[in-house]
Amino acid sequence: MTTSKIITINGRELTFENDETILEVARRNGIEIPTLCHLKGTQPTGACRICVVEVEGARNLMPACCTPAADKMVVRTESPQVVAARRLIIQLMLASGNHNCAIRGSDNQDWTAFQLKVQEEDGSSDLCPVWGDCRLQDLAYRYQVSGERFDATVNRYPIEDVNPFIVRDFSRCILCGRCVQACCEVQVNNAISFGYRGPFSKIIAAGDRPLKDSDCVFCGECVQVCPVGALVEKEARYRVRPWETGKVRTTCTYCGVGCQILLHVKDGKVVKVTGVPDSPPNHGSLCVKGRFGFDFINSEKRLTKPLIKENGKFREADWDEALDLVAGRFREIVEKNGSESVGVLTSARVTNEENYIANKFARAVLKTNNIDHCARL
Ligand code: SF4
Ligand code: SF4
Ligand code: SF4
Ligand code: FES
Repeated sequence: MTTSKIITINGRELTFENDETILEVARRNGIEIPTLCHLKGTQPTGACRICVVEVEGARNLMPACCTPAADKMVVRTESPQVVAARRLIIQLMLASGNHNCAIRGSDNQDWTAFQLKVQEEDGSSDLCPVWGDCRLQDLAYRYQVSGERFDATVNRYPIEDVNPFIVRDFSRCILCGRCVQACCEVQVNNAISFGYRGPFSKIIAAGDRPLKDSDCVFCGECVQVCPVGALVEKEARYRVRPWETGKVRTTCTYCGVGCQILLHVKDGKVVKVTGVPDSPPNHGSLCVKGRFGFDFINSEKRLTKPLIKENGKFREADWDEALDLVAGRFREIVEKNGSESVGVLTSARVTNEENYIANKFARAVLKTNNIDHCARL
């Protein structure tokens, strides 16, 4: 007969599986332990230490995300010692660069000078671009700390924005390493890693070159997992705040995988796309097209009127004229050469419903299976 193993967390006796960590047992039982570096589905690194808990009999506080649960272990997740450690960690992180949101604290005489310095480096008079959508800020509120205790460290690396998709702001990076795990373990692109040491530490690509000159494929996985404002979508940075957008769930049209996406919509326009977490088939991940390929929707270059080619030149036409012409030509060709002589090419830039109608039109009306989609071209 096997007896179950018991861990006690905050006075609750809980059973656990052999390979579970303290964090996993706690979360499974509705006990919240804060995390920053922990990324579900990847190897825990224990980089940030915000998840530390008190384990009876242990000399030091233990990181819950990478400490295995053990039989008869007694754990406290919010003891005074734990709270003091978390407050210090948050204060140190807030001092590690241009954290100029409200939690920085405003009593300090240096506040204005600090803001002006950040504005100059960042090229914006706004507070941090992820203000209101930042896990470090959430924790600072939860544990009621500000960034005033320590002076901000020198910002060693300028912002990198020499690609169309992602802005890398090293001054707000807390070196949690989630982006590296997302890139190397989730997407397996191996484009970024930790570089340099101590105060010079930095997330680097291709021996410290811009992302555009590295193996980066701009899937944006790193942006999605960054808990702070160090990695932000270029198009959304300083233009969109999370509370200004509605989220519409839909299926990506670019290929047949069927990734689940959230369209972030502001004033009737799609301003950002994210993957739907914990949902098959993509579980939050996307490729460059799904995540960043939406600017065509509001492009001024979009054709809104049909064009008819005559003598090598296009002229604008109305829909009736264009449809009559296409229907007539289809009929002519099919009568002369049969249904197999025509085909339909559809587009990833229309909705799935429109593609479905095109498929019906090809098979049921033209009576051909010659139908394809630009994702395979
Ligand atoms: S990254 Fe987070 S903590 Fe830092 S300034 Fe921005 S909102 Fe504040
Ligand atoms: S965009 Fe994708 S490939 Fe590029 S660094 Fe981020 S995770 Fe890696
Ligand atoms: S860029 Fe973001 S995810 Fe990557 S180490 Fe810095 S804070 Fe963490
Ligand atoms: S979340 Fe556990 S060490 Fe960072």
